Amino acid sequence: MINSLVAPDRFIMPPNTVSYLAGPLGGLAWKTANEAAKQYFLTLASGTRIEEVFAQVEEEIYPLLARQVAGTPKDVSIAFALNVTEALIKLLDCIEASLDAQHNIVTPSTAYSSLRLLAKSLRQRRGTQLRQPEGTTDDVIGAIDEQTRLIIIEEFDTQYCEMLDLARIADVARSVGARLVVDASQLIGIFPLDFHHFDVAVSTAYKGLLGASNGCTPIFLNRARWQPGAIRPSYAGRNSIQMESEESFLFKDDPGARLQPGGLNWLGIFLLLDSLRNMQELRLELEDIAQHVLALTTEIVLALKDLARTNDQLTLDIIAGKNPLLRGPHATIRMQRASAKLVCERLAERGIYLSYDSTGLRLGPRIHNSSTDVERAVKHLGEVLLELSYNPLDPTWVAG
Ligand SMILES: Cc1ncc(COP(=O)(O)O)c(C=O)c1O
Repeated sequence: MINSLVAPDRFIMPPNTVSYLAGPLGGLAWKTANEAAKQYFLTLASGTRIEEVFAQVEEEIYPLLARQVAGTPKDVSIAFALNVTEALIKLLDCIEASLDAQHNIVTPSTAYSSLRLLAKSLRQRRGTQLRQPEGTTDDVIGAIDEQTRLIIIEEFDTQYCEMLDLARIADVARSVGARLVVDASQLIGIFPLDFHHFDVAVSTAYKGLLGASNGCTPIFLNRARWQPGAIRPSYAGRNSIQMESEESFLFKDDPGARLQPGGLNWLGIFLLLDSLRNMQELRLELEDIAQHVLALTTEIVLALKDLARTNDQLTLDIIAGKNPLLRGPHATIRMQRASAKLVCERLAERGIYLSYDSTGLRLGPRIHNSSTDVERAVKHLGEVLLELSYNPLDPTWVAG
């Protein structure tokens, strides 16, 4: 029997919640987020210049964020963008000039849409070759060669529901002189990451970091991998430069500051800080969170297999990493997107919250979950699938 790591009543949940396992979609917001948002608006309403307040916030939030990748602000320079897509656009803007026609870029065919599309647009602009292997460690490494200059990956492969070995990939990337850009959205705040294993990582704030709000994406630049001047955006807003004259501007020294040209989504940043403070006050260690999530994911997989044992109609195609220690933050039941959406809607009527993507129905436990949540969710899922006449052989249900 696994208990929750943090009492569920510390989070804002839909009022009728029976079980909330929709972690992959986004984490639950801490109830303290309400107070943090109020403080933010009161600060503005009292006429305080937001830049002054933000200077203090930066001092506190950068070390807390750096801890998420096992470093300090001396190891990683941090910047904020509005979302992962924007963060990648800004980074690729700085990397692009080093790419030309004899080079290749490696991005798995299953990576998040922005990663794939941005890699494709680099191919069009720079004439580089684009390699799109599957998203496992071996497949990514197999696609890298002497001409690889850029590798853009997620650190969790949603096709196989398995974590990648970033240390191994980083070694190979460095041996050929390629930049390694990692989208850590699925793992950050849940599994320990190490800044030594990427050149730059980006992540959503609203999943494992429980930062409540979209609109605030931390960028982690491994300082040792960016020589002075390597981050030189093709734009310069008032926060990224030291001098304001348009003709002779001078970028700030800090690589992260250079990527943050103008006003930021400060409310999102305040909410993220509030979440990081909660995690620190509760002494939540990433190792413990990871162990908790892995143990519950194993329970989910076993409970789903049990469903099939009791009813032939409930034979499910369960995607979960073969090695339980590499399973990462969720398991998926392979299903057509439209069917998975319908199942989620029916389950939500019963107070059971799961999520879905193009791979299928996803069950992702987080710090507020216990074994009871798993039991309830799987029991209701079985009932809903029978109600909807689920058929494992019917292509409208199961993707080919
Ligand atoms: C792996 C991954 N990256 C990024 C995002 C979000 O990025 P953006 O806000 O740019 O769409 C998500 C959201 O689901 C995601 O799963």
